[in-house]
Amino acid sequence: MESRSLPLAVLIRRNTGMKTSVYMTWAKYHASARYNLANSGILGCDLADLPITMDDVALNGPNHEGYAPLKEAIAGKYGVTPDNVVTAEGTSMANFLAMATVIERGDEVLIEQPAYDPLLSALEYLGAEIKRFTRRFADGYRIDVDELGRLITPRTRLIVVTSPHNPSGVAVDQATIKRIGELALETGARVLVDEVYRDILFEDAPPVAASLGPQFITTSSLTKSYGLNGLRCGWILCEPGLAEKMRRLNDLFGAVGSFPSDRLSVAAFRNLFLLEARTRSMIEPSTELVHQFLREHEDVLECVVPPRSMIVFPLLKKSDDSERLHDLLRRFDTSIVPGKFFEAPRHFRLGFAVKTEDVAAGVRNLSKALRSA
Ligand SMILES: Cc1ncc(COP(=O)(O)O)c(C=O)c1O
Repeated sequence: MESRSLPLAVLIRRNTGMKTSVYMTWAKYHASARYNLANSGILGCDLADLPITMDDVALNGPNHEGYAPLKEAIAGKYGVTPDNVVTAEGTSMANFLAMATVIERGDEVLIEQPAYDPLLSALEYLGAEIKRFTRRFADGYRIDVDELGRLITPRTRLIVVTSPHNPSGVAVDQATIKRIGELALETGARVLVDEVYRDILFEDAPPVAASLGPQFITTSSLTKSYGLNGLRCGWILCEPGLAEKMRRLNDLFGAVGSFPSDRLSVAAFRNLFLLEARTRSMIEPSTELVHQFLREHEDVLECVVPPRSMIVFPLLKKSDDSERLHDLLRRFDTSIVPGKFFEAPRHFRLGFAVKTEDVAAGVRNLSKALRSA
């Protein structure tokens, strides 16, 4: 399909029974641009970024319950055991498997607002009764545990959060995660923490939520922090009994995973320190540029600025809708994500984990567009 052929307005629908994510469809067909500030993860790796040999490539092998060396590598990195690991096609499939295993049609699920749309759309698809708790801009996108506590009922089966948060980039502090875990234990609910952005916190990254108690489920992948989207190497970390149920549900989707991907993913874990260094070398200068840009545009933008992130979610002070800004930016071959995809039209998501010179050009274009809007 030709990029830009779908009018944005057609894609913005909710509760229509559509078996899709309106945001994901938009991201596939409309987000790309010469200066892509719509992407939320680190620029994709080239072959040169990952030292591999032909020994790392194999076509077939034993992975009908996940490839054992890969499960060991994931478990080793995150301080759990292979019994706790379910491999999946990206965080996307990990989230779907986790949610579909834990909930039945009509079950009550609490999910943050604003939220990453595919999480919300998958819950709608699974027939969940969805209740929202707000991560407020004015509160720095923190989770108000008291509000969450008031929403939980004995029918709540699942609580869903992202940490760091998509779209704001704000990480949930450990005390809050633990309190959410205590609330969940009281009603027998599970807590799904999508941690796909966690590893760019580097040495400040907290322990994965799944290590905090059996009610927690962590999902993640090699996509966002390591630039290996194409490998589709995702995983779920959770207690062994639940992990086994997820593997059985996964039987519906295929007999085996992609063995070449599993082998290359093991090579990626072996070289994670190199990929981390690459990520850091891109994020650090871009972060400085974007923080400076935000300071210079305080007359038109207000923003919660996490100390470390690859995305921010600024608020337009002088406009009710970021779509006009998005359209203006297209003239400069630059993309952002309009906030309406996160149910917050006055905001836009700005990603900056691409080449520093492209971030520099992108924010210059953003400045021109903001000044002329
Ligand atoms: C919160 C969140 N979860 C999951 C994904 C998808 O990740 P993956 O490529 O690992 O499927 C994204 C991608 O934007 C995301 O933002």
